[in-house]
Amino acid sequence: MMRKKVDLSEVLIETLDRLDGDGILLVAGNPPNPMTIGWSTIGHIWNKEIMNVLVRPVRYTFQKMESSRDFSVCVLPDPYRKELNLCGTRSGCDTNKLELCNLHVEKCHLVDSFFISESAIHFECRTVHKHFLDPVTLDPEIIKRYYPQKDYHMVYYGEIVGIFRNFPL
Ligand SMILES: Cc1cc2nc3c(=O)[nH]c(=O)nc-3n(C[C@H](O)[C@H](O)[C@H](O)COP(=O)(O)O)c2cc1C
Repeated sequence: MMRKKVDLSEVLIETLDRLDGDGILLVAGNPPNPMTIGWSTIGHIWNKEIMNVLVRPVRYTFQKMESSRDFSVCVLPDPYRKELNLCGTRSGCDTNKLELCNLHVEKCHLVDSFFISESAIHFECRTVHKHFLDPVTLDPEIIKRYYPQKDYHMVYYGEIVGIFRNFPL
């Protein structure tokens, strides 16, 4: 199916709603691995559109993100709740989640990565900066609640190189 390149303003609210709901898929590496994410910020830095994704170092996706600069973030349509749950509870280190979920991938249009064919919207991103969260400057309440294991997220700053939409959610 043909995808249309769209502006951030056309998909921002839907994407934020999904992040707040069942999540969206971060797809990285070759071969690609999908991981459900719920935390992200989207906005402007350095005169670029930037999407931050946060990945704990224990995730298989962390290895994938470290081995490739480009990644995609894919918003699946409504019926894919079960698949999002699976991609958020199983690890690509011992499971082929794409096969298990019967999801398919295609080469991205503008970056060197893959996106999920079944997605309604996908963002094609290139990492332009990254850093681990710094416990020295992080609110102790947040540390207590989210990092008892001290497994601080790596924050990736993905320049949004292109956004593509398949059909309205
Ligand atoms: C709704 C939801 C949101 C999640 N958000 C994140 C996230 O933003 N960052 C993260 O590191 N893990 C997040 N997770 C956990 C990972 O998706 C989960 O640990 C997954 O199994 C890791 O897959 P991988 O080992 O193949 O990378 C989330 C899980 C769910 C269900």
